[in-house]
Amino acid sequence: MSTASRSLLDTESLDQSALNSLFSLTDKIAERFRQFQVFYDISRKPMLGAKVVACLFFEPSTRTRMSFEMAANRLGVRVIRFDESSSSSLIKGESVLDTVLNILAMKPNLLVVRYGQQPELDQLWPTLDIPVINGGSGTTAHPTQALLDAYTILKERGRIAGERVLIVGDIVHSRVASSNFDVLKKMGAEVAVCGPQQLLPAKEMNIKTFAQIEEGLAWATVCMGLRMQTERHDKSEVTEAALDENRRLYRIDAAKLREMQRDAIILHPGPINLGVEFTEDVLKDPRCRVLQQVENGVFIRGALLSSRLGFD
Ligand code: NCD
Repeated sequence: MSTASRSLLDTESLDQSALNSLFSLTDKIAERFRQFQVFYDISRKPMLGAKVVACLFFEPSTRTRMSFEMAANRLGVRVIRFDESSSSSLIKGESVLDTVLNILAMKPNLLVVRYGQQPELDQLWPTLDIPVINGGSGTTAHPTQALLDAYTILKERGRIAGERVLIVGDIVHSRVASSNFDVLKKMGAEVAVCGPQQLLPAKEMNIKTFAQIEEGLAWATVCMGLRMQTERHDKSEVTEAALDENRRLYRIDAAKLREMQRDAIILHPGPINLGVEFTEDVLKDPRCRVLQQVENGVFIRGALLSSRLGFD
């Protein structure tokens, strides 16, 4: 694999057969991880052979960062970590690009990155001689989340093709939604959206839309909730009224759960704002697969790290 093809900056670069082979590799990794088997055991290799992954997170993260770290640890790979926080030199005025260039000068073997709207970083990744995995960039892409979502659908529903996935809430600002549209469509699922008008994708994108969430829930075999991306909202475009409308009309609660098919599943990438997109009833519902998504996230990231570092 060339360095460029070993990077994962978005899902567009993966066709259906690449997705299928990634899911098969994930099955193998899951089996090994479940047995707590560290199959690249650094204690049995010379230290100079250690691969080091640098996780550079310029935006907050719990699941994605820790999931990459967990997968790396299970693979026996070392991790160094940069978090945007008061302990970094960003508060001394260093630019994000300079920070990245300095960490690259330490020669990690692979980067995992999360950042906001930073075109200079988008331009940098393809020029590097190490693979880069995107852990969420601005509103545009979150490939590993979409991959773990698709993998969870495959494991929990037994298939992706033919599934009917309803994505609810703040679609337009969600990088999770954009990567999911791409992966799910390629794998043959039907996708529909539902939410306040201001938060739905443009009509030209031709995505099936349900005005009434109840109809969408009755149609769906998979329902994916999303957090309101308030940090990305332009307050003049997304008004308090839209946020209120979301809570009143589109929040999934006990009554909405009754509209869903009995064997449907419920997903959410997290973090969940309880009371906003879901009430607590959702987390207690047997159809909820939010923690399975998190577990599968470690497997998907293990598969990506192992293939990108040349272990498989
Ligand atoms: C998402 C993200 O960062 O885009 N979270 C995640 O990676 N699990 C969703 C969100 O922030 O709402």
